Amino acid sequence: MTRVAIIGAGPSGLAQLRAFESAKKAGHEIPELVCFEKQDNWGGLWNYTWRTGLDEYGEPVHGSMYRYLWSNGPKECLEFADYSFEEHFGRPIPSYPPRAVLHDYIVGRVKKSGVEKYVRFQTPVRHVAYDDKTGKFNVTSKDLKKDIQTTEQFDHVVVASGHFSTPNVPEFEGLRMFPGRVMHAHDFRSADEFAGKRLLLVGASYSAEDIGTQCYKYGAKSVTFSHRTKPMGFEWPEGFKEVPLLTKLVGKVAHFKDGSTQEVDAIVLCTGYLHHFPFLPDDLRLKTNNRLYPLNLYKGIFWENNTKLMYIGMQDQYYTFNMFDAQAWYARDVMMGKIKLPSAQEMHADTLKWREMEEKVADPEMGIDFQTEYMRDLLAPTDYPRLDIDKVAALFKEWEHHKVEGILTYRNHSYPSVVTGNMAPVHHTPWMKAMDDSLEAFLATK
Ligand SMILES: Cc1cc2nc3c(=O)[nH]c(=O)nc-3n(C[C@H](O)[C@H](O)[C@H](O)COP(=O)(O)OP(=O)(O)OC[C@H]3O[C@@H](n4cnc5c(N)ncnc54)[C@H](O)[C@@H]3O)c2cc1C
Ligand SMILES: NC(=O)c1ccc[n+]([C@@H]2O[C@H](COP(=O)([O-])OP(=O)(O)OC[C@H]3O[C@@H](n4cnc5c(N)ncnc54)[C@H](OP(=O)(O)O)[C@@H]3O)[C@@H](O)[C@H]2O)c1
Repeated sequence: MTRVAIIGAGPSGLAQLRAFESAKKAGHEIPELVCFEKQDNWGGLWNYTWRTGLDEYGEPVHGSMYRYLWSNGPKECLEFADYSFEEHFGRPIPSYPPRAVLHDYIVGRVKKSGVEKYVRFQTPVRHVAYDDKTGKFNVTSKDLKKDIQTTEQFDHVVVASGHFSTPNVPEFEGLRMFPGRVMHAHDFRSADEFAGKRLLLVGASYSAEDIGTQCYKYGAKSVTFSHRTKPMGFEWPEGFKEVPLLTKLVGKVAHFKDGSTQEVDAIVLCTGYLHHFPFLPDDLRLKTNNRLYPLNLYKGIFWENNTKLMYIGMQDQYYTFNMFDAQAWYARDVMMGKIKLPSAQEMHADTLKWREMEEKVADPEMGIDFQTEYMRDLLAPTDYPRLDIDKVAALFKEWEHHKVEGILTYRNHSYPSVVTGNMAPVHHTPWMKAMDDSLEAFLATK
């Protein structure tokens, strides 16, 4: 029987399991599935851990999420077409849920579909090698609890190990002598730590924006954002400022490229993440920065030099959960022989065509349109339940406008579900005043 290894039980790996399970429910024979997950639970980044550095087994901690993390986009943009929020929670809920609520939603779908039997928890994949003679992959994994390493053969490998876990950590002069806390966003856990502090955040993307606003919400004295390329440009309230790139630190004083200075108490490097696959040899390993269309992946999924190897969720992301679904359904149909891949030359030409379009993306609206077209392309040939992605794209653009209108207030908005058509209620507490991020507090009616 054909065997498929899926590496990771985060939203991408779970999408792959769910895709196969839905084919099985439709009466098709599916391959034997093994999903390897290094953590003790599923949900990937959404499975919160207080740990940083190494875990109890000495493995690098995967988690980059923090306490008080709320969705930074409307939930209506990531809703699964086959499992609405309303189905999961029994009623419409507000549009920007905190982490625990989204974790509950992800897990609810997979529990309902009964895919837990395929997952081996606490079992990181150590190595993947392709054997030309057998035409199969040898996958070596370690059962951390039993302390046993095994190698098994698979016909296909799906890499769904995420790409927001291994921090990109630049060096700045004077950092080693800085008399305060220095960390990367990957290790940030609780904003409480920075109450009363003057904070410097290096980076100008989602982590900087969110960690900065969150620390302000929980009492930071001031927030300074330092950008390399361009400022975020929001209308920041008093207490925030944007400055050019950090050049050096002298004691507690940060110096910036325009000659300005600022005394700070703590530094968070919000400088993004590396695509890091220590278990893959060079000939199978995706090498890319964080972008909408990495090269050498046909349809953003198939490793062009060996299409039995697939990657899910490796793009920079406007779309998330439902994009992983679209990729997983497509990958499933290729593995099950329903979709035939074209020749190597045609695949590569197609990738280059998409890359050329991606290079013309000049602003977030164009980015949203680009990824919407990518979704359309993937969804067309599969039986993924109908998802009106033009409506999703319109919601993304509304979200962008709401962020520009108010970076501290955009999460107070609500939007209609593309899946059910029902409007989300307004949350009982404005985001800046909602200090309790528990599922219970969010779902309470008052
Ligand atoms: C701080 C932060 C906040 C975010 N907030 C949002 C948000 O609000 N909304 C949104 O839509 N998206 C958000 N994202 C984007 C996020 O990438 C996706 O929502 C989603 O988690 C990606 O799913 P994934 O399965 O591809 O990767 P991950 O969630 O990273 O899951 C990968 C899984 O693979 C496992 N794994 C890794 N290596 C191995 C190995 N060698 N062997 C076995 N298992 C392995 C990991 O343990 C993990 O469980 C956020 C990302 C970050 C970093
Ligand atoms: N739910 C939430 O609230 C939430 C919170 C945080 C993060 N996230 C998600 O997490 C993911 C990752 O976001 P991210 O912001 O960590 O990464 P990112 O979007 O890849 O951005 C990385 C940032 O680091 C900067 N940078 C990289 N190297 C640098 C260097 N050497 N010096 C100075 N700046 C440098 C980049 O600047 P350039 O522009 O110059 O390249 C960019 O601003 C996103 O999907 C995001 O949605 C969500």
